[in-house]
Amino acid sequence: MSAPTIAERLDDPDAARTEGRRKMDWAEAHMPILAALREEFEAEQPLADERIAMAMHVEAKTAALVELLAVGGAEVAITGCNPLSTQNDVSAALHAVDGVTSYAANGVDTDEYYDAIEAVVGVDPTITVDDGADMVTHIHDEHPDLIPQLKGGCEETTTGVHRLRSMADDGALEYPLFAVNDTPMKTLFDNVHGTGESALTNIAMTTNLSIAGKTVVVAGYGYCGRGVAKKAAGMNADVIVTEVDPRRALEAHMEGHAVMPMHEAASEGDVFVTTTGNRDVITREDFERMGDGVLLANAGHFDVEINLEELGEMAVSTREVRDGVVEYELPAGRRLNVLAEGRLVNLAGPLSMGHPVEVMDQSFGVQAVCVRELAENADAYDASVHEVPDRLDREVAEVKLDAEGIAIDGLTDDQREYLDSWDHGT
Ligand code: NAI
Repeated sequence: MSAPTIAERLDDPDAARTEGRRKMDWAEAHMPILAALREEFEAEQPLADERIAMAMHVEAKTAALVELLAVGGAEVAITGCNPLSTQNDVSAALHAVDGVTSYAANGVDTDEYYDAIEAVVGVDPTITVDDGADMVTHIHDEHPDLIPQLKGGCEETTTGVHRLRSMADDGALEYPLFAVNDTPMKTLFDNVHGTGESALTNIAMTTNLSIAGKTVVVAGYGYCGRGVAKKAAGMNADVIVTEVDPRRALEAHMEGHAVMPMHEAASEGDVFVTTTGNRDVITREDFERMGDGVLLANAGHFDVEINLEELGEMAVSTREVRDGVVEYELPAGRRLNVLAEGRLVNLAGPLSMGHPVEVMDQSFGVQAVCVRELAENADAYDASVHEVPDRLDREVAEVKLDAEGIAIDGLTDDQREYLDSWDHGT
């Protein structure tokens, strides 16, 4: 089954292209890492023989990455990695870039979503770039014939890396993948600051309600959760953290947040943000305890963290009270408000634009150098999940520091020798 490109879907693709291009130009003007790589890729054409299949959140920053890969010589086909996160105008503008075909469209149903992934595979890829691992799993399930030609792939997010590690543990992963998510230049900025800022910004914009003075319950104190908790506290909210890992719970406690089980937090919170990458984090027993008017939002990759099936069964009625906000009325008259259908609130809401541009410049800088590495050194990697080589992560950090005008010290030879030796004592 073949899917339509974005240009075939839209009534006025020209108007969409113009607006999408405007968004891309703004993003690209604030992405110094991608700008530096663009100069290099344009001159050296490291991706001249590559065909890249991508499934990502298609908005302006992602478009800057795609354009960079195309400028580097690759033929690229892309679709969304979430049915609601594509910005159609950006998708249209991207489709107009030389060497790029975009099948990404907003609001697709499950069949259309997978039809578009299938259409992207039609590019006959040598490299994949994923956010959530749907492309990798689709290729393994439906197109194992392509595996011998695949040099490797890159995975953007925690949930995708977990899926790939599970595949590797089961002996099912058949080509090399870089865990882009896990590298410091990504996780410490994108997951922490990106998710922290953009999840709360989107909750505030979607509802036009204040964060200050509220009790914000953050489920999961991993990288994303600690970002949301820190920024919520910075916006003058009281923060409650729920966890299943005792060390992370202790860390949250030492950071000054209240820590308790979700069943207790349920009756305390005004705003709930799930960031666990797990399912059924907020369930029927929690909904039963929640107060009237609470806001429920998810920032984890899949829409399974807030159990909307159970909430739907409990509700006597539902209605869309604002764009991107569905109110579930419970029998006793309490109303619980679910944002962005329980999908990534910072990407799938009507006003969502994803992470701040600067943050994605770093994440996508790492993606770009990993794609270059696969094109140039594929033989160095076997069929498993690989950490991003430290030299690549450092390269991206150095470009960013340079762009910020920040200089740092370097190790002297004596210092390097001292750090490397084991025989210096008191
Ligand atoms: P992480 O692994 O660092 O943190 C997840 C935390 O959730 C862990 O501390 C774990 O113990 C905890 N947890 C698991 N089950 C739980 C439960 N039932 N109740 C309470 N806590 C529980 O992962 P990270 O990097 O923070 O990512 C979390 C999710 O966010 C993933 O799905 C990831 O793909 C997604 N993500 C979303 C982004 C966005 O733009 N919204 C950006 C980056 C990642």
